[in-house]
Amino acid sequence: MKLLDLYAKMKGDLNQIEQELERSVSDDHALLREASTHLLKAGGKRIRPVLVLLSGKFGDYRLERLKSVAVPLELIHMASLVHDDVIDDAETRRGQLTVKSKWDNRIAMYTGDYIHGKALSIATQLPNPDIHRILSKALVQMCIGEMEQIRDFFNTDQSVRHYLLRIRRKTALLVAISCQLGALAAGADRETSNKLYRYGYNVGMTFQIRDDLLDLYGTEKQIGKPPGSDIRQGNITLPVILALRDERVREPLLKEIGSIRSQDGFPDTKRAISLIRSSEGGNLADELANQYIKKALHALEGLPDIAAKKNLVDIAHFVGKRNY
Ligand code: IPE
Ligand code: IPE
Ligand code: MG
Ligand code: MG
Repeated sequence: MKLLDLYAKMKGDLNQIEQELERSVSDDHALLREASTHLLKAGGKRIRPVLVLLSGKFGDYRLERLKSVAVPLELIHMASLVHDDVIDDAETRRGQLTVKSKWDNRIAMYTGDYIHGKALSIATQLPNPDIHRILSKALVQMCIGEMEQIRDFFNTDQSVRHYLLRIRRKTALLVAISCQLGALAAGADRETSNKLYRYGYNVGMTFQIRDDLLDLYGTEKQIGKPPGSDIRQGNITLPVILALRDERVREPLLKEIGSIRSQDGFPDTKRAISLIRSSEGGNLADELANQYIKKALHALEGLPDIAAKKNLVDIAHFVGKRNY
């Protein structure tokens, strides 16, 4: 099934999640509401709620309960984006101005915190303390991942292992627990929720590798922000780490990265990008992304052959090829 068809099939339940997302940030303070709603209305794939709902199909599917994990997970994701755009000094997201550029960094800080607060108030309505524990642990890891990234800005000596650990924290764990919590909220057994966790973790790893590839190979229209943002910011991603291993490219690329670093404002990244593209970095990163997809599919083995399993397989393939 194509992804759009899957969204169409899930439309009824996703609409309810959308309404709850809107409701969750629609009271209280006018400015906090406006800034949160701005990001909400800018769109987004809602991939985490989709994964919650599909994972919920492996237990006793009750939308009310699943909503109480899907909405907080999407809110936590949104809050992390608001903060991430401060760290990355990003002007646009989802094709719209970021909160930090439509308003300012201070407003973005508290908008992110506000959205987090809203996530907590919904998640804590669920009585299962395991769910609260899993959510808060993932949140802590996400902060460590983003912090590590700041510490590693312009560090051209980092290993692939280091990069993988960072993206595990900043991205993959939240995707993993979207699957795990969907299953747990539906009362599925441990084995099932663990398998879904592993699926989500591997999909999440691919998701971030693809995101990092898109920043170097995508167009502004595809990714909703100017390409090259990562390297401009000093975020040394997998294709760059791998390109630096290429003898022909290493020296000129190091020079370009050094020059980007020394410039204020909006340094031109064209030369750096074309050097990376001339290396094997992209292909190698692509291969690694595909290996994670294989692992994701492997994790689903042994789960009952219900329609949702097929949908998860399709999502894994989609994430593996994602170009927006
Ligand atoms: C963007 O996540 C940040 C990453 C973890 C790569 P998404 O690609 O899920 O963002 P939206 O929600 O669709 O905008
Ligand atoms: C993803 O990081 C954001 C978080 C996981 C918090 P990126 O900086 O790579 O994501 P985009 O490219 O801005 O969406
Ligand atoms: Mg960013
Ligand atoms: Mg970032």
